[in-house]
Amino acid sequence: VGSWELASEDNGSLKVLKEAAEYLRSKDTPVGFPTETVYGLGADATRSASVKGIYSAKRRPQDNPLIVHVSDLDMLRRLLAPEMNGSANTQQTDVIPEIYKPLISRFWPGPLTILLPNSEPSKLAPEVTAGLKTFGARMPSSPLALSLIKLANRPLAAPSANASTRPSATTASDVLEDMDGRIELILDGGSCQVGVESTVVDGLCSPPVVLRPGGVTLDEIRSCQGWEDVQIAYKDHAETNGKGEAPRAPGMKYKHYSPKARVILYEAFVADGAKGISQEDLAKIEALATSAHQAGQASTNIGVIRTEKWTSGAGLRCGSLQAKGKSQDGVVELDVQESELLNKEGAVVGKLFDLSIGQDAKSVAQGLFQALRELDRRKPDLIFVEGIPDKNDIAAAVMNRLRKAAAEIRS
Ligand code: TXA
Ligand code: MG
Repeated sequence: VGSWELASEDNGSLKVLKEAAEYLRSKDTPVGFPTETVYGLGADATRSASVKGIYSAKRRPQDNPLIVHVSDLDMLRRLLAPEMNGSANTQQTDVIPEIYKPLISRFWPGPLTILLPNSEPSKLAPEVTAGLKTFGARMPSSPLALSLIKLANRPLAAPSANASTRPSATTASDVLEDMDGRIELILDGGSCQVGVESTVVDGLCSPPVVLRPGGVTLDEIRSCQGWEDVQIAYKDHAETNGKGEAPRAPGMKYKHYSPKARVILYEAFVADGAKGISQEDLAKIEALATSAHQAGQASTNIGVIRTEKWTSGAGLRCGSLQAKGKSQDGVVELDVQESELLNKEGAVVGKLFDLSIGQDAKSVAQGLFQALRELDRRKPDLIFVEGIPDKNDIAAAVMNRLRKAAAEIRS
């Protein structure tokens, strides 16, 4: 796997980027590349063989369609009106539906995916749309992603670059972790700024709907003309009262965002407005650790992801279980604090891995997938995650991912 770093005024980088673009045009194995949301696994969206390469690298079900990434609006117009050249056709009605204009001008390039009618005949490989009459399109804001698409001069179909069911990848090494041996090239652009995927909206129906919460918030979408009455078509949002409609974005019915360990999400104190993991919740952690221990497990290793930082020397106490650790001053984000879990008698019953990803929703979004992966590498039996208040901001995207990761039944 080749590695590439974005460095300004580095002609070597441009050379590698050009090579990656040429690779995308000619080879059938996808390329890992950064976007501002998460890393993508990109392939030429116009060639079946290369799009098939995505599904096999990801081990992704074939009926889950892919997002098409474009570098400019003319590239998008060519997909919507195959027999006409969009740019040479500005006098006639624009092939981009009017409803999307306010969103495009405000959020593109950026973390928003819009559903568009596929043209007939289609310019996209049929595997992109998985048999649907629409396709999802997005113009990412990452300069590296935009340059890659522009240099390849092809729309790039790209799902998140994780193996199917795993947490999305927000660093090049996360991509490598899942894709080693399956792909040949990853462009390393550092950590992703947003950290959760794009918001997916459908403006082809009335009223328009949000199919997946993401980097652009519901409040932001609502403030756009024609989108004031946007409905929520995913299940876990407060406004749908947990009842939401049947999945309209096919990806919603699959197991998602899951680390290997079982995830337990604490939402209780979100409602209480309390901060941090309460004594009561810690008691639940203890009960679980104890019962696993009694069930004959030699040791129970537990991961905790929370918003507050581990305070030096504090240790984590839960009922009669106690975590005694070598705690440090000046905890760096995504620094995992490791300590021993002791029972009442002082015997070591397992380990505790404690990780803080910050207080505000933006930093939680940024660190979430990395935190899940970071803990998972330590092979805990359980990962407890502290929920954050689910408002119409990026917290909705965070909680949506966490609820899926924590769901026992994913059907
Ligand atoms: O931020 C993102 O959107 C990232 C980066 C790489 O751009 N991509 C991403 O792709 O998250 P993926 O494949 O992991 O998720 C795409 C989502 C799925 O939920 C899929 O079902 C939905 O978009 N989708 C794609 N095309 C669709 C269509 N025609 N109709 C309904 N939903 C669609
Ligand atoms: Mg995904």
